Amino acid sequence: MPLARLDISRLRNLSQVRLDPSPQVNIIVGENGSGKTSILEAIHLLSLGRSFRSHKHKTYIQHEQQECVVFAQVEDGHQRLPVGIKRTRDGAVEVRIQGRPAQSAVELAERLPVQLINPDAFRLLEGSPKVRRQFVDWGVFHFDEHFINAWRGWQKALKQRNSLLRRGKIAANLLAAFDQELIRLGEQVNQARKAYCAALTPHFEAVLKQLAPGLSVQLQFFQGWDAQKSLPEAIEHSYQRDIDLGYTNTGPQRADLRVKTPTGDALDTLSRGQQKLVVSALKIAQGQLLIERGRQLVFLVDDLPAELDANHRRKLCQLLESLASQIFITSVGPDSMDFDWSDQTDVRHFSMNEGELSQTSKGLQES
Ligand SMILES: Nc1ncnc2c1ncn2[C@@H]1O[C@H](COP(=O)(O)OP(=O)(O)O)[C@@H](O)[C@H]1O
Ligand SMILES: [Mg+2]
Repeated sequence: MPLARLDISRLRNLSQVRLDPSPQVNIIVGENGSGKTSILEAIHLLSLGRSFRSHKHKTYIQHEQQECVVFAQVEDGHQRLPVGIKRTRDGAVEVRIQGRPAQSAVELAERLPVQLINPDAFRLLEGSPKVRRQFVDWGVFHFDEHFINAWRGWQKALKQRNSLLRRGKIAANLLAAFDQELIRLGEQVNQARKAYCAALTPHFEAVLKQLAPGLSVQLQFFQGWDAQKSLPEAIEHSYQRDIDLGYTNTGPQRADLRVKTPTGDALDTLSRGQQKLVVSALKIAQGQLLIERGRQLVFLVDDLPAELDANHRRKLCQLLESLASQIFITSVGPDSMDFDWSDQTDVRHFSMNEGELSQTSKGLQES
C-alpha cells in the first residue's frame, strides 16, 4: 500500500515537512545532517510505532517540543486511508486509522509493512540470533495470519515457565501443565518459521545471484534445539538443566537463521560491501515473497551508495525497480544515483536542505 501524502511534524530537524511521494521510486538527496534519514525514520515510526535509530522516543522528538506527529494517506484500492501516529515526551503513543484510535501499532504494521535497508544492515549478520529471529518473525507475521496469536501465546507460556523456574520452587506436575501449552504453541511457531524459511530460500538465492553472482551463501534455519529430537523430547531432556539454570534453555526461543559461506559464517569472510549485498538480498527476497502473495510494501533504503561500487549500486537499483513497490532511497550526492530508471517508472527526486524538503523533478503521474 503506497503512501500518497506524508506530513511530518517536529521529528528531529524536520519541523514541518510535507511530501507527495511517487507510488514507485523516490530519491532524496542532501548533505550529511540535512534530515534524509529522519524522513525514513518517520515512515518507519508510522508503520511500526518505533524508530530504527533509537528505542528512546525522546531522542527523535524535536528538541524543546512536546510531541512529534507523522501523518499519511495510504492508498488502499480506490480509497485513501488516513493514518497517523503521535508520540509525546511523556511516552504516550496515539495511533489513528481513519480517524479512530487503532488497537495497537500492529494494526498499522499490517497495513503498511516497511522493509529497511540501511548502513546498519550488516548487524543482521553480526548481531545475536535474536536479530535474525526478529527478521524471520517479521516475515512470518506477514506470511501466516495465524502466527501472531500462536507466537503471543507461546511467549506468555514461556515467560510464566521461566518465572517459575527463576523462583526455584516448582512441582513437576505444575511445570508439566505449563509445558503442554508451551509445546503445543512452540510447535506451531516452529512450523510456521520453518515453512517460511523454506519459501524464502529460493527467493534469496535468485536475488543474490542477480545482485552478486560470484557470492556463494547459504541459509540454514536452526529451530532452536537438536533436529533429531521432537520439542517434547528436547524439553524433557533439558528439564534438570532448566531447573539448575533457572530458565528454559531449549526451544524456539533459541531459533536462528544461519547465513553460511562455504568456509564459515558469512560474517567472518565477507567484506562490508558483500555483507550489505547479502542482507539486501535477504530483505528483497522477503519483500518478493509478500508481493507474490498480493501484499504491497514500502522499501526504505537509507544511504544506498554506502559500501557499494557503481556496478552493485546499479544492480541494486535494478532489483528495487523490478519489485514494483514504493521505494524511498536516500543518498548524499546525486552522482552516485546515476541509474537509468525505466521511462515507465514514476521516479521523483527530492532535495533535502537543513530540514526543508523540496521536490526537484516531477513524477510520471504529475507531468
Ligand atoms: N531531537 C532532535 N531535535 C532536533 N534536531 C535533531 C534531533 N535529533 C537530531 N537532530 C538533528 O537533525 C538532523 C538529522 O539528520 P539526519 O536525518 O540524520 O540527516 P541525514 O540522514 O541527511 O544525514 C541532524 O542535523 C541532527 O543534528
Ligand atoms: Mg542519514
